[in-house]
Amino acid sequence: MKRAIGFIDSGVGGLTVVKEVLKQLPHEQIYYLGDTARCPYGPRDRDEVHQFTWEMTNFLVERNIKMLVIACNTATAAALADIRATLDIPVIGVIQPGSRAALKATHNNRVGVLGTIGTVQSMAYPKALKGLNRRVEVDSLACPKFVSVVESGEYKSAIAKKIVAESLLPLKSTKIDTIILGCTHYPLLKTLIENFMGSDVAVINSGEETASEVSALLDYHDLLDQDDKGVQHRFFTTGSVSIFQDIAQDWLDIPDMHVEHIKLGNEKGVYQ
Ligand code: DGL
Repeated sequence: MKRAIGFIDSGVGGLTVVKEVLKQLPHEQIYYLGDTARCPYGPRDRDEVHQFTWEMTNFLVERNIKMLVIACNTATAAALADIRATLDIPVIGVIQPGSRAALKATHNNRVGVLGTIGTVQSMAYPKALKGLNRRVEVDSLACPKFVSVVESGEYKSAIAKKIVAESLLPLKSTKIDTIILGCTHYPLLKTLIENFMGSDVAVINSGEETASEVSALLDYHDLLDQDDKGVQHRFFTTGSVSIFQDIAQDWLDIPDMHVEHIKLGNEKGVYQ
């Protein structure tokens, strides 16, 4: 019986990580849960994000996943350490892989981090980056408008372009040569971000590095799937199935994707 890799996020953002994992590990089965009904997590306080992250985790653990990817930076900052210490399956987040990828890309050790309010306030990126390289200088910027642009499916629109330009203006005058997309929703805005920042700034999507880490960990634990016989991906959302499905189908190339609606805890949020 195949066991899936579990992915959790506050909404569709973690699909940007799933995309990279499917590219590198096409035999693996994916179970994905997006807590769209309570998205965004970014402005919520840490304890609440911690509780919601545990609710998502328990939902997937009950479905016998073999590994958990916390494909949300805000949730990683709030709950990774605790969840990793508690579960007996491998658990990874996206902050350490994103930091590693940025340090590979930077030439001048000046790195920008775009994230939610929760991620920026947690200081998780500066801690991770400086833990790997003490000389790196970090400019963090919260972009609270980006998540709603993505969740509403407007990420290719003129409004998105305007919001990206307005939000990133403070970074234009810095010396950063690398930007980490420190929220898994932001890769859907990557082209707009690259166009605004110009070709001298490398834009890092932590998904690719996270996928390499997933691959290495599964290999280490002898959990890699050798063929795609019996693979049945499952996608769960606490919000609108049709909006989730439209974005997921645009982003992932999965034919006949089936999205299931589920309930978690006491849902209070914007994207019902
Ligand atoms: N995708 C999430 C992240 O990586 C959070 C977005 C949100 O819910 O605010 O931080």
